[in-house]
Amino acid sequence: MSIADEVFDVTGTVVLVTGAGSGLGRSIAETLAGCGATVIAADRDEARLKQLHDVDALPLDVSDAAAVEDAVSDVVRRHGRLDTVFANAGIARGAGLTQPAGSVDAFELDDWHALLEVNLHGVAHTVRAAARPMKRQRSGSIVVTASTAGLRADPFVSYSYVVAKAGVVNLVRQAALDLARWRIRVNAIAPGPFKTNIGGGEPNAEAEARWGASVALGRMGDPRELRGLALLFASGASSFVTGSVYAVDGGALLQSMALDPAPEGT
Ligand SMILES: NC(=O)c1ccc[n+]([C@@H]2O[C@H](COP(=O)([O-])OP(=O)(O)OC[C@H]3O[C@@H](n4cnc5c(N)ncnc54)[C@H](O)[C@@H]3O)[C@@H](O)[C@H]2O)c1
Repeated sequence: MSIADEVFDVTGTVVLVTGAGSGLGRSIAETLAGCGATVIAADRDEARLKQLHDVDALPLDVSDAAAVEDAVSDVVRRHGRLDTVFANAGIARGAGLTQPAGSVDAFELDDWHALLEVNLHGVAHTVRAAARPMKRQRSGSIVVTASTAGLRADPFVSYSYVVAKAGVVNLVRQAALDLARWRIRVNAIAPGPFKTNIGGGEPNAEAEARWGASVALGRMGDPRELRGLALLFASGASSFVTGSVYAVDGGALLQSMALDPAPEGT
C-alpha cells in the first residue's frame, strides 16, 4: 500500500451523503464509492438517485426531521455503524447567477422560509441525527457544505442563503466543540461558485462568465474538484482537524463584490 493509499484510506467505511443526486454531493458520493466506501446516497429527487452507480440510494427530504432520524437509524441497523456524514443538500432561491438579490425590504417570505427549511434546518436535522450513533461509537466525521456566502456579504445570492450558510458555519463550530468529547470531528467546506444544477435551468455562458470573474482563478469550479476534500474528511487524513471551515473557492474570498448604485427614486 502506498503512503497516499494509507493516509486517504476509506475502504469499508460507512458514509451518508445528502443531496447526493447532483452536483457536489454526487461528486462526493461517487468519489468515496469509487475508493471502496459503502456510500448511502440520499436525495429527495429519486430520478437523480437512479443515475448513480455503486451506492445505496435513499430517497430522503432533509427538511423532515423525523425522516432524517429514521434514515440514520436504518443505515446503522443495516451497516452496523456510521463513519462519515456529508450534510450537503441545499437549494438556492430568490436570486440567481446573473440576478442580484432583492434589497432587504423586498425579499419574498415564502422563499425565506423554504430555503431555511433545507439549508439551515435540514443541516441541523442531519448533524443531530448523525451524532447519536457516532457518540455510541466514539468516532465519526461530520462535514457540512456551507458556502463562501456564509462567510461574507454576497449580493448575488439571497438573504435567506447567506443567513442559512452563516448559521451552519457556527453550527459546525458549536458541534465540533461539543462532540470532540466523543472524538467526533465536525467541519465545514465553503465552496465558491461551482458548475452544478443549483441555479436550475440550462448552463448559461453569461452567468458562467460573471461568476468566473468573481473568482481569483477566473473560472467556476468543477464538482470533480471536490474529490480531494471528500477523501480528506472521510479518511484518517483529517484525524486532527475539527471545527474548521475549508474554502474551496478558487480564491473567491480574496476578491470583493460590489453592486451598482441604487436606482433613482428609491
Ligand atoms: N454550486 C455552487 O456554486 C455552490 C456554492 C456554495 C455552496 N454550495 C452548496 O453545495 C450544496 C450542494 O449544491 P449543488 O451546487 O451541488 O446543487 P445541486 O442542485 O446540483 O444539487 C443539490 C442536490 O440536493 C438535493 N436536495 C435539495 N433539497 C433537498 C432536500 N430537502 N432533501 C434532500 N435532498 C435535497 C437536490 O435534489 C439535488 O440533487 C448545497 O448545500 C449548496 O448550497 C453550492
